[in-house]
Amino acid sequence: MTAPLLDISDLTVSLPAPDGSRLFAVRDLNLRIGTGQIAGLAGESGSGKSLTSLALLGLLPAGARTSGRSGFEGRDLLSLSERDRAAVRGRRIAMIFQDPMTALHPMLSIGRQMTEHYRHHFRVPQAKALRRAEEMLDLVRIPDPKAALGRSPHEFSGGMRQRIAIAMALCCEPSLIIADEPTTALDVTVQAGILRLFERLRAELGLSVLLITHDLGVMSAVADEVSVMYAGRLVEAGPRADILTRPRHPYTHGLLGALPGAGGAGGMAPIPGLPPSITTHPSGCAFHPRCSWSQPACRGESPALQPVTPERRLACPVDPLAPKETLS
Ligand SMILES: Nc1ncnc2c1ncn2[C@@H]1O[C@H](COP(=O)(O)OP(=O)(O)OP(=O)(O)O)[C@@H](O)[C@H]1O
Ligand SMILES: [Mg+2]
Repeated sequence: MTAPLLDISDLTVSLPAPDGSRLFAVRDLNLRIGTGQIAGLAGESGSGKSLTSLALLGLLPAGARTSGRSGFEGRDLLSLSERDRAAVRGRRIAMIFQDPMTALHPMLSIGRQMTEHYRHHFRVPQAKALRRAEEMLDLVRIPDPKAALGRSPHEFSGGMRQRIAIAMALCCEPSLIIADEPTTALDVTVQAGILRLFERLRAELGLSVLLITHDLGVMSAVADEVSVMYAGRLVEAGPRADILTRPRHPYTHGLLGALPGAGGAGGMAPIPGLPPSITTHPSGCAFHPRCSWSQPACRGESPALQPVTPERRLACPVDPLAPKETLS
């Protein structure tokens, strides 16, 4: 990859515990996204996906602390002043959430909302802002964009509202979109449409996307690279097709086995046990209590995420493919 657009290195996010100690929600996370790339971040509930994205935007809850670096367009997002961060947010990096109603005000017209955002960053007259909004609605295939500008969010279906939220995010020409579970609330057909939209925007605008989801099925549709997160750490990362067809971490195996249609006879085989809460991350490899490959060594040190091929990284000492493929 040429210089990545986003280069997160050793990102750690901690939150205050009631007893005054620190709880580590994200640990030593390394992730890069190239221009025009769709990077997937997957993991079960509570693994730290949302806190990772909130850390990038400076939107962490009160009392949270970060360390590490997050290079973006020549600057470190983690050490920007509040003022500079506000200028990046929405302008260079846009965020899309699961529920488009968090981005859309229920009472205001689509046109008013889309233009306020744009005018705030670009200081242009309303007529120019409206033209831009109309263009973006057209780009995400909202029928009759001019008329749509005069309507309110409740006059659209859930899938269309998510398209409108994406159009709003695109108004300010961001280079990166962070989409946190953008399709979870939508039915599968609409979900497929939104994913295709991300693909088209990447091809047409060179947009980069960080796609966060607990659903590896969603990843398999569009992501170029997939990173799998467990209890605050990345456990496996690499090209999507490679990870999905030849997973090497037992947790990735488990996530894939839990997808509908996996494991033969259409059977889903959920991973036994529950993901640990932030207050009870097990020592060593955090996955070891749920892992059928677990060995005594897994309870000692937490395994580091290391390259196992030029393109793949893995944090598991019990890797059945290791003898053949580990780099010497
Ligand atoms: N404001 C907060 N205060 C305290 N703990 C929090 C806060 N936000 C998140 N956490 C904890 O940090 C951990 C990571 O949370 P995060 O929201 O990043 O998970 P996630 O991977 O996005 O999960 P989900 O798939 O459910 O959205 C969880 O254990 C969560 O309980
Ligand atoms: Mg989340």
